Amino acid sequence: MSLPREPDWLASTEAAPEAPGDGRAFGKLILAGEHAVVHGYPAIAVPLPALSALAWIVPGDEGVVIQSEGYPHVATLQTRRGPLAPLAEAARDALARMELDPLAIPPLRIQVASAIPAGAGMGSSAAVTVALVRALYRFFGIPLDPTILQDIATRSEGMVHGASSGIDPAAVAATGPIRFRKGETPHPIPLPVTLDLVVADSGERAHTGPMVAMVRTQIEADPQARATLDALGSIAPSMEQALVKGDLDTVGSLMNDAHAGLARLGLSTPKLDALALAALQGGAKGAKLSGSGGGGVVVALTTRENAHAVAKSMQEAGATSVIYTRIP
Ligand code: MEV
Repeated sequence: MSLPREPDWLASTEAAPEAPGDGRAFGKLILAGEHAVVHGYPAIAVPLPALSALAWIVPGDEGVVIQSEGYPHVATLQTRRGPLAPLAEAARDALARMELDPLAIPPLRIQVASAIPAGAGMGSSAAVTVALVRALYRFFGIPLDPTILQDIATRSEGMVHGASSGIDPAAVAATGPIRFRKGETPHPIPLPVTLDLVVADSGERAHTGPMVAMVRTQIEADPQARATLDALGSIAPSMEQALVKGDLDTVGSLMNDAHAGLARLGLSTPKLDALALAALQGGAKGAKLSGSGGGGVVVALTTRENAHAVAKSMQEAGATSVIYTRIP
C-alpha cells in the first residue's frame, strides 16, 4: 500500500517547536456521537495528526490581510462575507480578546494552508481557524487559554456551519481522544492501548450545515428518527468505558452501531456503506462514517497487523485516498 506522505513543511506536530508567528491544528475524526452532540449528547473524537492546517504571519503592507491557499481573494478585518469571512471574524475576535487595537498594530499578512480536504468531515474549517488563532497569539507572545481558543473557533464555525456543537474546534486542537459535550470543557480520554485507524475518503463532499438541518427536521417530525438520534447519543459513554479498558472489540462493534444509526438518519451514501462494509470484510473491528455524513470519510478501527488488508479492501471498494493513523 502506498501511504500518502504528508508534505515535509506540514510534517511537524504541536510537540515540535515552531516559529513565533506559526500556528497549527490537526484534522479530526469522530468515533461516536456526531449529530447527537448538536442535541446535547456527549461524543468522542480524536485528532488526525496525519493531516494538518498551518497558519503563519509575515509583515504586511497595510492593515491585516488574510490569505488562504486556494482562494484568489484576500480578506481583511472588515470582511464579513464570502469564504474567508469566518477567518476574518476569528482574527477580529482574537485581537479584541488580546486587547489589541487593529489600527495600532503593525501591518500583517496571515497566510493559511491546509492539507485537510474541505467538506470531507475531517474538520478542515475548524483546523484553519484554530491554526490562525494560535498563530496570532504566538505572534503577539500572549498565552492562549484553551477555553478562549474553543470559544473563538466555535463562534467562527457557527458562521460556516450554522448550528455547530463546537466538537470540531475541540478535536482539532486536541492531542489525543476527547469526550466532548456542547458547552463543556473537552475531557481527555486516557488510552491504555493504541488505536490503529484507517481512514478512507469516499471522494464525495457535503456541507455540514444542511446535514445538521436535515437531522433536526427529521427528529422534530418523526419519533422513530428521534429514537435513532437518542440511541446514537447513548453510544459515546459505552465507547468511553471500552476505550479506557482497552477493549477494542467493543469499540469496533459500537462504531458499527453508530454507522447503522447514522445511515438510518439518511446520513450515509452507497459509497460510504460500501467502504464501511469493505473495511469489515478486510478484517476491521469496526467502521463508520465520520462527521456530518452525506460524503466524506469512513474511519475503520483495525490492528497493526491488519491495517494493510483493511486499507486494500477499502481501496478496492473505491476509496479515493486512504490514510493510516495511530492514536496516540
Ligand atoms: C461535524 O463534524 C459534527 C456534527 O455533529 C456537527 C457539530 O457537532 O458541530 C455533524
